Parts: sequence; structure tokens; C-alpha cells
Amino acid sequence: MTLNAAPTDLTGKTVLVTGAAGGIGQSAVAHFAALGATVYATDIAADFSGPATYQQFDLLDDDGLSACVDWISEIAPDILFNNAAIFDMGSILDGGDLAQMDRLFGVNVRGFYAVMQATAKAMVAKASPGSIINLASQAGHRGEALVAHYCATKAAVISYTQSAALALAPHNIRVNAISPGVIDTPMWETVDALFAKFENKAPGQKKREVGRAVPLGAMGTPDDVARAAVFLASDQSAYMTAQTIGVDGGNVLR
Ligand SMILES: NC(=O)c1ccc[n+]([C@@H]2O[C@H](COP(=O)([O-])OP(=O)(O)OC[C@H]3O[C@@H](n4cnc5c(N)ncnc54)[C@H](O)[C@@H]3O)[C@@H](O)[C@H]2O)c1
Repeated sequence: MTLNAAPTDLTGKTVLVTGAAGGIGQSAVAHFAALGATVYATDIAADFSGPATYQQFDLLDDDGLSACVDWISEIAPDILFNNAAIFDMGSILDGGDLAQMDRLFGVNVRGFYAVMQATAKAMVAKASPGSIINLASQAGHRGEALVAHYCATKAAVISYTQSAALALAPHNIRVNAISPGVIDTPMWETVDALFAKFENKAPGQKKREVGRAVPLGAMGTPDDVARAAVFLASDQSAYMTAQTIGVDGGNVLR
């Protein structure tokens, strides 16, 4: 028996966090840094404050994406927290047009994939173990009439997680995803405002409703997601790959 009850120590590990200026990203940066990792962070945001070396890249822009890919090959992270994404609403009959599809798939799938691919190649080149953590969503497990494209992007994240995990397993690189439920972050300002428009709700109403509907009784916090990421980054999850873990208070039963 190997009993390992020691606190997670990421000293000597290099971590890359995308979407680092957002709610979940900031918490992930703080958690990884507090556990001793050297953290690199990127976002489209001009300003970032946190215990990380920061570079601004727009993953929707070809030049930005290619500069980010070059940066990743220099960093060669041991751990990737692949988190940047955008949300928008629309159904097949109302608002779910091709322009919205291009934007959402551009960031949430194309940008996400390019970051994962660059990281995987750098990890293989340095021939040491790695852990890739992709941000999916409960929305990736079930379509929603008014959230067609976003749900499809997150289903794609789950599928790419599985394919990448199988391709990278021989290199001792694990790839898993986290599916958050409803987490109280700046993204919810957009989500709540869009539901107010599409479902004729008062501002704040959708957010209150989804919080009350969670079996554990409330929205989650960015720290709830970051703690799951720490587990997937560490050797505590050494025998896990190709999995998608729900951090959703019981919203989705698998
Ligand atoms: N908050 C939730 O309830 C929830 C639920 C399920 C899944 N998620 C997922 O968790 C992850 C983090 O979400 P969050 O709630 O912290 O959102 P957030 O909006 O607070 O953070 C997302 C970050 O991504 C960045 N970003 C957006 N477009 C970008 C681009 N073109 N290039 C580079 N960076 C870009 C944003 O600037 C932002 O800082 C996302 O993948 C999201 O889909 C969130």
C-alpha cells in the first residue's frame, strides 16, 4: 500500500493558465502558485494581476493564436489549465447564426485545441509527465434550445479531451476535463443578461433561479473548480485520464 496523505506540492512544476483574468482562471492561478508552481498566465484582457508571468493574446485572432502557440513551446508547461471561453445564446430559429457559431467555436474549440496541441507537443518534446485540464461545462452534456452553439463547443471539449488522452497516454501525459455547473463568475453577468432578454426575466432572476435549483443549494465558487484542478494536476489523480469530472453541486448525474 502506498499511503499519500501529504498536501499537494507543485514545486518545480510549470503551469499555464488561459482565461487567467476571468473568475475561475484567477482562482486557478492563485491555487497553483500557492502550491509552489511557477505559473504563466494569458488572457485577452489588457490588465492582469496575480502571482504569474502574464502575456496578452487574443485566441480568436490568427496572429494572436500563433504568437500564443510560440510562447507555449518556449514555456513547455508540465500542467495546462485550458480555460478561456466565451458564452452567447441563440437557438436554431433565433440568434444561433453562423457568425455566432464562428465566434464561439473560434475561441472555445479552435483556440482551445491549438493551445492543447501546442502544449502536448512541448510536453512530448521534453519527455516528462504532464497533466492537461480542459474546461468543459454541464452544457456540454445536454443540449439546450437557447444555447445551441455554446453547448456544442463544450461537447467538443469533452470529445477532444478523450481523443487527446488516448493519443498522449503512451507519453505519460494525462488529459482530463472539468464540467462546472453554475459558478459565480463575471461570465454570469453575460449569461444573466442574455436570459433576461431571451426569457423576458428581470435582471438577476436567472442567476437566483439556477442557484436555488442546484441540489447542494447554491451556485459554486471559482475555488470549487480550482480545487478539482489541483487534484487533476497532481499525482493524486495519477491513474486518471480521459475523464470529465463534474463540479456542479449535483446538477448532472452521470
Ligand atoms: N461560470 C460558469 O458558470 C461556468 C460553467 C460551466 C463552464 N464554465 C467554463 O469555465 C471556464 C471559465 O469561465 P469563467 O466563468 O471563469 O468565465 P470568465 O468570463 O470569468 O473568464 C473567461 C476568460 O476567458 C477570456 N477570453 C475570452 N475570450 C478570449 C479570447 N478571444 N482570447 C483569450 N482569452 C479570452 C476572458 O477575457 C475571460 O477572462 C470557461 O471555459 C467556461 O466556459 C463556466
